[in-house]
Amino acid sequence: MVPEKAGQLMVIGNWKMNTNVPEGIKLASKIRELLSGKAYHEIEVVLCPPFTSIAHISDVLSGSDLKLGAQNVFYEKEGPFTGEISARMLLGLCQFVIIGHSERRHVIGESNLDLNAKIKEVFSQDMNPILCVGETSEERDSGLTNVVVKEQIRQALDGVEDINGLAIAYEPVWAIGTGVPASFAQVEDVIESVIRGELATCYDDVISRITPVLYGGSVSSSNVAEFLGHSSIQGTLLGGASLDACEFVKIVDETASHLQ
Ligand code: PGA
Repeated sequence: MVPEKAGQLMVIGNWKMNTNVPEGIKLASKIRELLSGKAYHEIEVVLCPPFTSIAHISDVLSGSDLKLGAQNVFYEKEGPFTGEISARMLLGLCQFVIIGHSERRHVIGESNLDLNAKIKEVFSQDMNPILCVGETSEERDSGLTNVVVKEQIRQALDGVEDINGLAIAYEPVWAIGTGVPASFAQVEDVIESVIRGELATCYDDVISRITPVLYGGSVSSSNVAEFLGHSSIQGTLLGGASLDACEFVKIVDETASHLQ
């Protein structure tokens, strides 16, 4: 399950549309090998490969503490939805599902309404959604960051009474894949005043505090320390860095060194 107590940390690797089946098996096997014997069970380490590799990688990870996640799901359970994958189809294969990644919002065109339905469906299957939120550079430059992120949280969680098991990743769109992460001060500001503020308003202070909030956007082994060791951030969501087993494991190691 997603860690419920503050202080526990997550590292999530989003492989995006990279790796075919043999490549995915190789990458996951290497990560498992490099992590074997290390004390990372206090950290939730989640690999999110493409759908095509999930079943294979589930076998590769079997018996380890590594967890699996999907990068997306559709909001219906089954039926005439050509090309879509439901949460129900992923049951038993993975526990986490990334919802509303910026590429799904901005390239595929998913709306907050779609994401709300997806979160409800993921919860209905007892799986853990990882909701991604974040503003574009234009929105930041226009002073709209807080409004946009607040709206993304509010609409995505509308009607979701119990968010136990949810994690939120703050990923400013301008920091994703650019090699230039947001500064800790920028991240902390949005997480504290907008994300946790909105959770406190919609739920309560305890839920606001215990819901894990991660940072994502050009995180690497050389900058991850900046985002760890602060009570406002419970881990990182990695794109590019998750495709290199050594780099990914370095980030897990660095994260482990910040466990309280
Ligand atoms: P990045 O991607 O680490 O390559 O910037 C992060 C993400 O898209 O989740």
